[in-house]
Parts: sequence; structure tokens; C-alpha cells
Amino acid sequence: MINIFEPSLGDDDLKAIKKVFDSKWIGKGDEVRLFENNFAEHLLSNSKNFVSTTSCTEGIFLAAKLFNFNINDEIILPSISFPSIASSIIESNATIVFCDVDRKTLNPTAELISKHITSKTKAVFLTHYGGFPIDFDPIKELCEKHNIKIIEDSACAVKSFYKGKACGTLGDMGIWSFDAMKTLSTIDGGMIYLKDEELVKKAKMLLYLGLPLKAKSGIDSSSEGNNKWWEFDIIEPGRRAIMNNVTAAIGNTQLLKLDNYLNRRKDIFNYYYNELSEINEINISSYDNYNFEFDSSYYFFWIQTSKRNELAKFLKNNGVYTTFRYYPLHKIKLFNSKFLDLKNSEFINDSTLNIPIHHNLTDREIESIVILIKNFFNGN
Ligand SMILES: Cc1ncc(COP(=O)(O)O)c(C=O)c1O
Repeated sequence: MINIFEPSLGDDDLKAIKKVFDSKWIGKGDEVRLFENNFAEHLLSNSKNFVSTTSCTEGIFLAAKLFNFNINDEIILPSISFPSIASSIIESNATIVFCDVDRKTLNPTAELISKHITSKTKAVFLTHYGGFPIDFDPIKELCEKHNIKIIEDSACAVKSFYKGKACGTLGDMGIWSFDAMKTLSTIDGGMIYLKDEELVKKAKMLLYLGLPLKAKSGIDSSSEGNNKWWEFDIIEPGRRAIMNNVTAAIGNTQLLKLDNYLNRRKDIFNYYYNELSEINEINISSYDNYNFEFDSSYYFFWIQTSKRNELAKFLKNNGVYTTFRYYPLHKIKLFNSKFLDLKNSEFINDSTLNIPIHHNLTDREIESIVILIKNFFNGN
């Protein structure tokens, strides 16, 4: 079976893990700090705004705490996005407000978001679908006008850029995922960007038990300078969601290979685009209409067809695994929301199929996927 997503972990990652094992310091330490620095550097950003964590979901839940979501707030998010966003809003007692996404890019737009803005809107979550940047400037202008925080779910948008600035660093907060399916995988892991440096401090505290930071070193503990170093203070209830040296060591080796991974994905994307655009019955991933400078992580390639379910079954029977991301959240009872005029999300849900795109795919595999899709539509 050809996988839809696949990480690439090898001998160099094993060597890096062994080095950490040998050091006898497997918890949070130098490797983690190095990873935060290296990651920020890859994004052409300043590491002082970055905090690592255990998953993107952890960062999403943290957003609700940092921006103090509460019962009086409405939070806008695209229905086609990741379930942990809606869960975090429910847990904060704020109200979920779903917005639609554009049919061509599967990204929300300023126009679609603006329909839902009220005096209660506190924040908007933006998911860069498949790593293709949202047209951010009009959304920024809209949100600034209404004093709305912008949180970018950049889980799949590692090294995606919008007008030269990294996705995830465009708004007030950005979060990336390094889970098992991601291009840069540390097996599990996440990274957070916060524009406000005060919030960086608060994030570090909340991610480590609520312990205040050491004033001098910034290391997460309150025992510095105390003769009884086992004593501590807790300022706010906190979690324990910090990255460890083993995970970070994988991240550091993965970063060395990331550009190669992204280049391979781009080649596969372009191959699919060129080959599949000749099939008249389908829409395919296309960002030709983007009138701004951008770079993508090429995380998804999608096809839209009225025969989506049949195509998925045909490909599966022929050894190619496909899926649809993301099942619209407004269809989930738990996330019940009042405003449900989400025609584009409904259309996307009925017609879209994500086909395999990852850096391990061979030329022969992508050729066979294209042949199978062409055969399906030619009735062979
Ligand atoms: C768009 C998006 N957001 C958030 C997440 C959650 O990431 P994690 O698995 O690191 O919690 C994912 C995971 O697939 C995702 O695709």
C-alpha cells in the first residue's frame, strides 16, 4: 500500500538519539534549546519568540489560556480544520463560530470571516490548508480594526512563507506540529510562536507546572538561589508539556534534511499538477490565482470530483491509500454551532480526496498513482 503521508527517519536520527542517551540527560536541556533556535532560524525569525512543546494540540489549548477565552467570547475558526481547535474553545467555555473556506484554496478569507464578526469576537484561528498560505494581509487589517487576536494553525505549514514572512509568525500566535505524519517529524512534538514576549514567559510557565521562570537563566524552575532548592512556588495551575532532548535531537537532524524534503514534495506536487490538469472532470490543487508572493510546504495534494468515494475505493483496491482532510467540524454534534451556512465546506466535504504526497515517494509510485487516476476517469 502506498501511504498518504510518511516520515523519513534514519541512521542520522538514531545517532543523534544515541548521543542524547549517552549524555544521561534525556529530559529538557541543550538539544531542546538548540532545536528552538534552529527552527526559528529556518523561519528567518527570532528564537526569543519560540517555545517548544509536546504537540500542536497542546499549543492550541494553551492559546485559550494565554488569551483568556471565556464564556463571553466568540472564537471564529474554519469548519474545515483540526478538531482540537474546537475542543479547546469548548473547554474554555467560549462559543465556537464556524466560518466557511474558499473552494479553490480551502483557506478562509477576510470576506468569509467578516460575516461572523460581532462585538464578542475575541480571536480567529486560521489553518493554512495543506501548507498553502492564507491571504493574510486583508485578514490582518480586518482583525486589527476589530481588535481580534489571530492564531495561526501552521501544523502543516512548516517553512511556508507569505510575502517573505513565515506562516505561523504572521499573527499573534502560531503553532506547528511535528507528529508522526508531518514533514518534519519528531514522532510527537510542537512549536509555538508568540508575538508578545510577555506571553512567551507565561507560555513557558503554563507548559511547565505553573512554576515561575528563573529570573536570570530563564530556565523553568523556581529554586535558584534558595538553600532549600526543593522548595517551589506555583503561580498558576500549569501542565507538563515540555519537549525533551531525545525528541529535540531528532528535530535537529530533521531540520538538516528539511529543505530536501520540501523540494521533493514540490516536485511531486508539480508532477501531479501537470499530469492531472488534463482530466476535465476534476478540480485539482491549484494556487494559480494567488496574487501574492508565497512558498508552500506542499503538504496536501487534492482532487475534487463528484465520484470521490468511488475513486477512493478504486485507488485503495489498487494499493493507494487516500483520505479527506478535514471532515467539517460543524458536522460534529459536540461542536454544535448556530450559523451553518457553509456551502463551500459542504461541497469540499462531498468532493475532495487527498492523494499521497510525501518525500519518500518514488517516481515509479507517483507515475503509477497518476496512471490509476487517469484510468479511473477513462473507464479502463
Ligand atoms: C491542521 C492541523 N492542526 C493541528 C494538528 C494537531 O497536531 P498534533 O498532532 O501535533 O497535535 C494537526 C495534526 O494533524 C493538523 O493537521
